[in-house]
Amino acid sequence: MLTFNSNNKKNRKLKRISLSTNKSNSNLHSKILYNGQFVYNFSSNDYLGLSKSPKLIKESISWTEKFGTSLSSSRLVSGNLDLIEQIENKIKSFYQAEMCLIFGSGYQLNISVIPSIFGNFSRSSDECIIFSDKLNHASINIGCKISGFKTVRYNHLDMNHLEYFLLKFRHIKNKLIISESVFSMDGDVIDLESLRNLAEKFNCYLYIDEAHATGILGKSGYGITALESKKNKKEISIGTFSKAFGSYGSYICCSTEIAKNLINFCSGFIYTTALPPNVLGSISKAVEMMPDLFDKRKELLENSSFLRKKLNQLGYDTLDSKTNIIPMINSKKTDYKKISNVLLKKGFFTSAIMTPTVPYGKERIRLTITSHISKKIILKFLEALHSFEK
Ligand SMILES: Cc1ncc(COP(=O)(O)O)c(C=O)c1O
Repeated sequence: MLTFNSNNKKNRKLKRISLSTNKSNSNLHSKILYNGQFVYNFSSNDYLGLSKSPKLIKESISWTEKFGTSLSSSRLVSGNLDLIEQIENKIKSFYQAEMCLIFGSGYQLNISVIPSIFGNFSRSSDECIIFSDKLNHASINIGCKISGFKTVRYNHLDMNHLEYFLLKFRHIKNKLIISESVFSMDGDVIDLESLRNLAEKFNCYLYIDEAHATGILGKSGYGITALESKKNKKEISIGTFSKAFGSYGSYICCSTEIAKNLINFCSGFIYTTALPPNVLGSISKAVEMMPDLFDKRKELLENSSFLRKKLNQLGYDTLDSKTNIIPMINSKKTDYKKISNVLLKKGFFTSAIMTPTVPYGKERIRLTITSHISKKIILKFLEALHSFEK
């Protein structure tokens, strides 16, 4: 069963940072101003640098000028601007899905969609079960908890463990497998074919969160479920606009049947104001540009692979990362907050990730490489790390 860490002795503090959109000095886009110092940002989800794209900024301003600063109502009342459906139609074509629905944040989507996937009529816990990868994002875990459905968590990426549970609970009518495609903390990637085969064999819905794959993987940049390969009506893809799309909000692509359930029963869709025009404008531009950003994706993945190799040579374990999310783990030096502080003094902003966000013993520095981080900057980072290693 799902458990939550009840340790409430935390002392998290908000870090205050400044950003720049300086057009004449785009070098500043790789940096943030923190504690009075300009530092390279190795901890941003703006994977393709689109949040500073003049095209997105222009479109965002233009939509505000045309439609105002808010849609001032939920989509089911008077906030369903016709252009939202145009964006949804574009997105669904990449997934060859029957329907796409745009939501507020990815967090809001996961916590409200998971409980309403099966509609409102089969909520009894003995009729529904969720199989969730142990390293799935907090928003998925909370969605499972809110659903009230029995939830079993299989070992990370362990298809045998998943199959064991699928066999054990095969008698339950409504079954849902949930996994991220690229894992937010480890940067590793699912074996989609195996998941699809298991979902088909046991007649399950398959829910893939592409938050960290969008912009990075797939021919069109829409993640691995957008590839032109076999999928069935029970497959659901979700993504966020808050990372590689350089904006805010999220989307789900699914069958008409599931979309109907959501429009009728999903509180996170029904009882909330539609995204504001400035946000929708930037989403619209990013959605249009995404398929053409192939070279940016390629360079980003090459730079990430270069950095991983060098980190491994320095003795850091980068787990099974295959993307631009790179965990840096060193079993001999586990004071990651200290490592992060030393890197900060040398001009690099990184994040130490501690339990319960990651399992005990797997604390780390989590690096994210964006298109603003050139190979030259990576070399500077390695130099800093090297001098500090001595
Ligand atoms: C896998 C995954 N899903 C969903 C979310 C939530 O997305 P958003 O930031 O749009 O709320 C995140 C955020 O980090 C995530 O990593």
